[in-house]
Amino acid sequence: MEQFVTLAEIDATAQAVRAKITTQPKIGLILGSGLGPLADTVENPDIVSYDDIPNWPVSTVIGHSGRLVVGKLEGQDVLVMQGRTHYYEGYSIDQVTLPIRVMQRMGIEMLVVTNAAGAVNPNFEPGDLMLITDHLNLLGMAGVNPLRGPNLDEFGPRFPDMSRAYDADLIELARKSAKNAGINLHEGVYVGLAGPSFETPADLRFLRAMGVDAVGMSTVPEVTVARHGNLRVMGVSGISNKANLDGSTITTHEEVLEAGQVMVPKLVSLLRGVLQTLA
Ligand code: HPA
Repeated sequence: MEQFVTLAEIDATAQAVRAKITTQPKIGLILGSGLGPLADTVENPDIVSYDDIPNWPVSTVIGHSGRLVVGKLEGQDVLVMQGRTHYYEGYSIDQVTLPIRVMQRMGIEMLVVTNAAGAVNPNFEPGDLMLITDHLNLLGMAGVNPLRGPNLDEFGPRFPDMSRAYDADLIELARKSAKNAGINLHEGVYVGLAGPSFETPADLRFLRAMGVDAVGMSTVPEVTVARHGNLRVMGVSGISNKANLDGSTITTHEEVLEAGQVMVPKLVSLLRGVLQTLA
């Protein structure tokens, strides 16, 4: 049998994080490519470098700094992951999602996931935000599911329900927050692929035909583990590049990071509004 992340490793990691922070966070927040500056708005932060946490996967990607920023945002105790790892970096999929397990053992109850994503819906423009209402787990369908291996019964059942992956109440709060802040918030289905190569025009037409609105290389494994352990989940994609369904443009990591700068202020107001109404 292959080796999988164990409860003992998860608990050792959770213990190490607890020892370095002074608050008891209730909300986890994962920041995607180019969205890291959002962490700068956390008040009185305890900052923990991923290098200093045992077992924690460290990102190798430009645009992902690797640290936890733990403190208050709109009166809520939050743990912000400034940077995440992806399957394509070479980690096993349960290593990629170890931070979610650690959050669960630390008593975190809600997870906000963000990502940079490519538009598959032709109506989306770079710089737009999309509230994730559901996802397509293509990686999981191909066998790369973070719940593969012995079930960790402490978190949830062998065959977890995924019919309501994205919390209906949080979706409603996000809609209201966007409205109040005057932000145009799209809604749609996110597909998680392995990457790291971007999609061909044929890939994109296939995904569009399957009902996909935005495509990225993260989030879905994290949400799968989050739901297994019963976290309430809200997800937002920052659209960083247009759907290239006809092959007329190219996609680069630089444009992904550039679009991040446009999206950060919008994402900050959206999240602040949601956190305020949770209080
Ligand atoms: N495809 C996949 N992942 C991405 C993209 C994309 O076009 N943009 C940002 N992340």
